[in-house]
Amino acid sequence: MSGSPRSEELPLDALRAQYQRLLQRLEANEREFRRLGRAVWNVQEDERRRLARELHDGLGQNLTALKHRLAQLLADLPAEAAPLRERLGAAVDLCGDALEDTRQLSRLLRPPILDDLGLAAALQWLARSIDASGPMRVVTELEPLPPLDGELQTLLFRVAQEALNNASKHARAQSVLLRLVARGGELQLQVIDDGIGCDVEQALRAGGSGLPGMRERLRLYGGRLELRSAAGQGTRLRAVVPLPAGDAVA
Ligand SMILES: Nc1ncnc2c1ncn2[C@@H]1O[C@H](COP(=O)(O)OP(=O)(O)OP(=O)(O)O)[C@@H](O)[C@H]1O
Ligand SMILES: [Mg+2]
Repeated sequence: MSGSPRSEELPLDALRAQYQRLLQRLEANEREFRRLGRAVWNVQEDERRRLARELHDGLGQNLTALKHRLAQLLADLPAEAAPLRERLGAAVDLCGDALEDTRQLSRLLRPPILDDLGLAAALQWLARSIDASGPMRVVTELEPLPPLDGELQTLLFRVAQEALNNASKHARAQSVLLRLVARGGELQLQVIDDGIGCDVEQALRAGGSGLPGMRERLRLYGGRLELRSAAGQGTRLRAVVPLPAGDAVA
């Protein structure tokens, strides 16, 4: 009989199996999408690393040599050639500024400290340089962490860089706290400022590449971005990523 329990179970079983297959395919596609997304980011970071080195070792070295030669010429000029000395002195200063800009750009592209000394040292350096560049104080609280792979360190460094830049550009904050902790198998990076705050929905749709890019990148690593803010109440940003298995801290 068509209404018997056995004949009803069969199509249901088939449907369930088909659903499982679709789910598995979807999960495989998602994994592949994340793998490709991470590969794109890695290529971009490699390119930044290469450009940073070129700028530092190529243009930077040439500017250093040029500055030395001009300074030597200046030293050789007799005291009575005052107008020429003045113009040459200005050229030496200009060269010095160009050299400093080149070094700064190189560090921004990919700070060597991240590859050489790791995330904690790179975050301390970032905090110090943003603190020194304007009126906003940057305080750090960095817990000792298990060793992290290079990709995760780069991810967290880029999130901190963008969040601190946002605080310094938009928040008019007096101070900002940069915090990195490991809790319950996750790494949490927090950037908390005491500035003017913003409308979170609007900020995420504002057309800047910073926050949406940060959110996408965290997703590729199985993480998430949490943003809380209100007018006049500062902004609290939290980036959460799972610790690789074996490194989980309770
Ligand atoms: N800490 C903050 N305090 C106040 N407003 C903020 C803060 N962070 C972000 N915003 C607001 O959210 C908007 C979007 O930020 P987002 O980083 O996506 O873009 P952006 O900084 O304007 O440009 P980009 O990052 O591409 O250089 C900002 O323009 C600003 O209005
Ligand atoms: Mg930004």
